[in-house]
Amino acid sequence: MFRLHDVSLRHANGFVALREICLAVTAGEHIAIVGPSGAGKTTLLRLIAASLRPTGGHLDLFGTDPWALSAAELRRLRACIGVAHQAPPLPPRQRVVTAILAGRLGQWPWWKALVSLAYPVDIAGARAALARLDLGERVFDRCDRLSGGQLQRVGIARVLYQQAQLVLADEPVSALDPALALQTVRVLNSDARVRGATLVASLHAVDLALSCFPRIIGMRAGRVAFDLPVAEVDEALLRELYAAEGAFLPAFASDPASDPPPGDGGAPRRGTCWR
Ligand SMILES: Nc1ncnc2c1ncn2[C@@H]1O[C@H](COP(=O)(O)OP(=O)(O)OP(=O)(O)O)[C@@H](O)[C@H]1O
Ligand SMILES: [Mg+2]
Repeated sequence: MFRLHDVSLRHANGFVALREICLAVTAGEHIAIVGPSGAGKTTLLRLIAASLRPTGGHLDLFGTDPWALSAAELRRLRACIGVAHQAPPLPPRQRVVTAILAGRLGQWPWWKALVSLAYPVDIAGARAALARLDLGERVFDRCDRLSGGQLQRVGIARVLYQQAQLVLADEPVSALDPALALQTVRVLNSDARVRGATLVASLHAVDLALSCFPRIIGMRAGRVAFDLPVAEVDEALLRELYAAEGAFLPAFASDPASDPPPGDGGAPRRGTCWR
């Protein structure tokens, strides 16, 4: 699905947000990225989404170098990627239904996209996506009349509606209560599983990552600190990952191996590079 080889990202001000990232992800994998604030999780997801260009190394996405493509080809490639944001960038006055249908704008012919902006062409489809997140009745609401958690779920419904081969979710449930967060991550997981899509999600809730994902990537200071099947992620590793946060360790399952999620993990071992 994608590979990063020695990828680094240096910002215009000289700050290096990612260093020597090596990752290989195959189609259908479900991966959680955890790590302290500022570790580079969002930067990594934006890089995989081909919205940030690496300043070093190489990204292979769907078997191609996205940055060698023409603008039109790059647009087509991005249409195969669904991105769920922590704060979905939805126009405040936009109706929920329009926001969700926009998930397929990149796949529709121009005339259908244009018609849909004036009048929603697939209200039933938008409602069905929302209903999976218990929001079916809000389909005609304006986005600025929703709470932060409801807005996050609208962003996820848009990704569900898009049916992308690769789903990248950046803190997609940070505004939800723990029960709803678990339910929502399960919807993302089951949707990706049924379609054979790849799911990569950054999560601050370590317990959620351990209970729902077979492969865990720990990031710290712009590097991959570990990349392991969930059964091999133990408390010591997590304490080390969050060491700079002082004594506080986000809650996580005491024995993640006791309730392993489906899938075999398939992760490269810690510190390995795919080259
Ligand atoms: N445009 C930018 N210019 C310079 N530095 C930046 C820029 N954008 C992000 N950074 C820095 O890059 C680092 C990684 O940021 P990133 O948003 O990827 O972290 P994160 O792991 O997602 O954090 P959080 O858990 O708080 O969301 C941070 O130190 C941040 O300050
Ligand atoms: Mg982030």
